[in-house]
Amino acid sequence: MKMKAAIIWAPQTDWSVEEVELDPPKAGEVLVKLVGSGLCHSDEHLLTGDMTVPDETAKELGLQQFPVIGGHEGAGEVVEVGPGVTSLQPGDHVVFGFIPACGRCPSCSTGHQNLCDLGAFLLAGRQVTDFTARHHARGQDLGIMCCIGTFGEYTVASEASCIKIEKDIPLDKAALVGCGVTTGWGSAVYAAGVQTGESVIVIGCGGVGMNAVQGAAMSGARHVIAVDPVEFKREQAQFFGATHTASSIEEATALVMDLTWGQMADKTIITVGVGDPNLIQPALLATKKGGRVVHTSVAPMEMQNVPMDLFSLTLMEKQLVGSIFGSANPRRDIPRLLRLYQEGKLKLDELVTKTYPIEGINEGYQDMRDGKNIRGMLIY
Ligand SMILES: NC(=O)c1ccc[n+]([C@@H]2O[C@H](COP(=O)([O-])OP(=O)(O)OC[C@H]3O[C@@H](n4cnc5c(N)ncnc54)[C@H](O)[C@@H]3O)[C@@H](O)[C@H]2O)c1
Ligand SMILES: [Zn+2]
Ligand SMILES: [Zn+2]
Repeated sequence: MKMKAAIIWAPQTDWSVEEVELDPPKAGEVLVKLVGSGLCHSDEHLLTGDMTVPDETAKELGLQQFPVIGGHEGAGEVVEVGPGVTSLQPGDHVVFGFIPACGRCPSCSTGHQNLCDLGAFLLAGRQVTDFTARHHARGQDLGIMCCIGTFGEYTVASEASCIKIEKDIPLDKAALVGCGVTTGWGSAVYAAGVQTGESVIVIGCGGVGMNAVQGAAMSGARHVIAVDPVEFKREQAQFFGATHTASSIEEATALVMDLTWGQMADKTIITVGVGDPNLIQPALLATKKGGRVVHTSVAPMEMQNVPMDLFSLTLMEKQLVGSIFGSANPRRDIPRLLRLYQEGKLKLDELVTKTYPIEGINEGYQDMRDGKNIRGMLIY
């Protein structure tokens, strides 16, 4: 079949919206008609080249990253299933998990679906079922971001990437839980393990960070200090549960020192748009003895050095941990978060500042760079 999708042909070029030829699903795969897709910063990393697998490595692994259809925060309706698909049928509503969860590997079988072994192929750009392509344009095979490629009207993906949800949940809101909501909320609830009465700093309040604010507040934090240089984000953060705001980590450090009588934050969560090595030491300084810093932002791949005070890390028993997909189990947490939304306990509607047709994708990302959106969203 033919459909429209947004492609990056090479890093540092704009998104190109064009006609794509999509093959029917093969064994273990499903064809999904998408409702829309959130504009997460991780696709921007694809565009800037921050997330480009070096040529040599790609060759060694037999990967072909570009050209690639972006998008990994989508939801839709199953239209057709390939042979051997057992958990889904046409008409089912699904959210795409941005990391497939096979259910059988050591990580999945021990309650760490966010670390599923199939995650190794997130940037491989091919179906995780047989490593071939279903998407083609201009006579070439196309990659798909995170094994799904949600910047298109339809996609074919493995059953492992699909989480079935109730049909009465609006799919355009459910899409957000496929990445930003679960990642941010889980960064606070699971990775940081925020407890009642704690003081929490969230650095960077976009589509991911706003949900870390929301998760920290839901966990009963006493102080949730939302840090963002953009005034609109700071204003919005208060609506999502921030008790205080600051425009920089330095300002937040002074604030938390005052609020806690010098004890500092129990947990600090980093969700800025581009991971920055120079934010680590300030984040550790703002965090108390025995406290934890969670790094959720994606940093450019080639960045390998972080200036930090290792002496104090040891003597003050501070923790610095990474987190992917909010350290959540998508098969449990996606339906769980959507339930909280239905019960009015989790805000999703308010996360979407502006929607765009697929042709508006470059404008949507420009609005992200300009700090205008909590989340922009393509609606097909
Ligand atoms: N670990 C994961 O599983 C995972 C999943 C999704 C996204 N991410 C990453 O999380 C990050 C955030 O994604 P997003 O979609 O929310 O991005 P976004 O662009 O919507 O939001 C980033 C926010 O950070 C703010 N910011 C930038 N520099 C700052 C600074 N020095 N101090 C305070 N605030 C600052 C910006 O003003 C913006 O509001 C990105 O790096 C993205 O790639 C990681
Ligand atoms: Zn994302
Ligand atoms: Zn697995």
